[in-house]
Amino acid sequence: MRRMAGTRLIQWLNLLVWALVMLKTEGANVSITIVKDAVAKGAVCLDGSPPAYHWDKGFGAGINNWLVHIEGGGWCNNVTLCLNRSETRLGSSKHMDKAVNFTGILSRVQNYNPDFYNWNRIKIRYCDGASFTGDVEAVDPDTNLHFRGARIWPAVIEDLLSKGMKDAKNAFLSGNSAGGLASILHCDSFRALIPSGAKVKCLSDAGYFINVMAGTRLIQWLNLLVWALVMLKTEGANVSITIVKDAVAKGAVCLDGSPPAYHWDKGFGAGINNWLVHIEGGGWCNNVTLCLNRSETRLGSSKHMDKAVNFWDSE
Ligand SMILES: *[C@@H]1O[C@H](CO)[C@@H](O)[C@H](O)[C@H]1NC(C)=O
Ligand SMILES: *[C@@H]1O[C@H](CO)[C@@H](O)[C@H](O)[C@H]1NC(C)=O
Ligand SMILES: *[C@@H]1O[C@H](CO)[C@@H](O)[C@H](O)[C@H]1NC(C)=O
Ligand SMILES: *[C@@H]1O[C@H](CO)[C@@H](O)[C@H](O)[C@H]1NC(C)=O
Ligand SMILES: *[C@@H]1O[C@H](CO)[C@@H](O)[C@H](O)[C@H]1NC(C)=O
Ligand SMILES: *[C@@H]1O[C@H](CO)[C@@H](O)[C@H](O)[C@H]1NC(C)=O
Ligand SMILES: *[C@@H]1O[C@H](CO)[C@@H](O)[C@H](O)[C@H]1NC(C)=O
Repeated sequence: MRRMAGTRLIQWLNLLVWALVMLKTEGANVSITIVKDAVAKGAVCLDGSPPAYHWDKGFGAGINNWLVHIEGGGWCNNVTLCLNRSETRLGSSKHMDKAVNFTGILSRVQNYNPDFYNWNRIKIRYCDGASFTGDVEAVDPDTNLHFRGARIWPAVIEDLLSKGMKDAKNAFLSGNSAGGLASILHCDSFRALIPSGAKVKCLSDAGYFINVMAGTRLIQWLNLLVWALVMLKTEGANVSITIVKDAVAKGAVCLDGSPPAYHWDKGFGAGINNWLVHIEGGGWCNNVTLCLNRSETRLGSSKHMDKAVNFWDSE
């Protein structure tokens, strides 16, 4: 009986600890900042509402470091779609949540985000439908659509500068998807807007899009050709395998006893002393049947590995 009570108590304590951990790790509730001043500069969302961002202040050693993340969300490419979008959070600050949770690279929890947890972390809300590129003065009175994303970008950055980013030691622009494209397009301008003493980097997460199927048939073929040439030029390295034969003497072998292996594309120029070591994935085998099967594949034996791989689709 006493034992049971102890167990029950421990169950409750576990539940409490779990709830507290959840609150601490996921409960960050970052309220929205509407950049009202931007409207006077014509920097507005699709529907004419002011742009917005969320800002979780830096603390401790991160107080002068700034991570600016651009939200993604596809694009609208004609009036019908943009009009529809202008009535959603992706086209109007009127429809945005008043607070969001910051997770991943935006998390303030050190365990989840060891590099940036104590930085100033900003999420710029995406509301122009075009990766912050439009700069059209005219507004069609029938639709009231504003294509002004290129004005939102500096307006938001200037607001952040006035709130302390002008003292940044490190500034990091990131974004994913449509926001990843924005991070490519605006990286130079970000560098130019941040004080020259600061270290500035940009990261584009899934932000490189090749518009293979757009346009007329001829343009489609030209795009495909350009795409193929780009692929060949930038990604066509054909990296041969190095079998680590010496490893066998150390008993360091693959599932089938064959030597381990890697592919190495040598650094060059300024990168010659920099090394990126990437470990291939491929699941696991968790019993003899599966491991035996695997030992006859490239995931279990260097005998079955390709003699050369391209370094762009090797995952
Ligand atoms: C934010 O996190 C809290 C706590 O985990 C959760 O209840 C809430 O639904 C989340 N809000 C959003 C908008 O995801
Ligand atoms: C987050 O904050 C908003 C207002 O700032 C509030 O309405 C909401 O209930 C809060 N949500 C949580 C999960 O704390
Ligand atoms: C707008 O684009 C969508 C998707 O490309 C298409 O389905 C739709 O027919 C287009 N509408 C107009 C009016 O062009
Ligand atoms: C219009 O927006 C709604 C969401 O607000 C969406 O469910 C719907 O699919 C959209 N329609 C078009 C044609 O994109
Ligand atoms: C890559 O190199 C291997 C040998 O090193 C060769 O057999 C193969 O055809 C080459 N593939 C391409 C796409 O260049
Ligand atoms: C090995 O694991 C797989 C997947 O978990 C399972 O389907 C299979 O029955 C297992 N085989 C043996 C011999 O345990
Ligand atoms: C055994 O490996 C082959 C590939 O070599 C795969 O197609 C098959 O599904 C595998 N069987 C099991 C039981 O995992």
